[in-house]
Amino acid sequence: ITDPRQRVLNTIRNIPDWPEKGVTFRDITPVLQDPVCFRSLIDIFVYRYMRTRIDLVAGVDARGFIVGSVLAYELNVGFVPVRKKGKLPFDTLCEDYELEYGTSSVEIHTDAVRPGQRVLLVDDLIATGGTMLAASRLLQRLGANVVEAVCIIDLPELGGSKLIEEEGLNVFAVCQ
Ligand code: PRP
Ligand code: HPA
Repeated sequence: ITDPRQRVLNTIRNIPDWPEKGVTFRDITPVLQDPVCFRSLIDIFVYRYMRTRIDLVAGVDARGFIVGSVLAYELNVGFVPVRKKGKLPFDTLCEDYELEYGTSSVEIHTDAVRPGQRVLLVDDLIATGGTMLAASRLLQRLGANVVEAVCIIDLPELGGSKLIEEEGLNVFAVCQ
């Protein structure tokens, strides 16, 4: 019997030189496509958090939505999207973050979280950590208590998870 984490790791597809030369893209679509592997992935998260008080799951645009919404459903809590700038229709807060070239921005609805709510922050992957940190700042500005930064893949050589933990936020990754 394959260990669920190993099954997920073995199913992630590595795409050399995408989206540009020298970058190896970690593609999670085969994990989502295989029902056994997708369930194994979600179950890893469910078993980790089923005994923790969680009020909401926040998922990061776009792949954080796929995993985050299923996890919210399984934990019987609500789901909140953290979206790329310009996509949310109601009043928003915005945080800018650094990309390799230039900057990007994420937004959240101002009424998405109430002060003191315990929120799990979910995305597919941590590279430089910029996206996860910006999302966590949005949640903190709304008074949320961010329980953990949750991802499928951490790329530790890029230093993102270390940076996030230096900011006082614990990181949980299924694989590295
Ligand atoms: C990817 C990934 C994370 C982020 C990680 O999304 O899904 O959200 O990058 O990188 P970081 O740790 O260096 O911030 P991307 O920005 O490519 O957007 P997408 O979901 O629209 O593809
Ligand atoms: N996969 C998905 N998102 C990413 C990656 C990757 O390999 N690197 C930076 N963001």
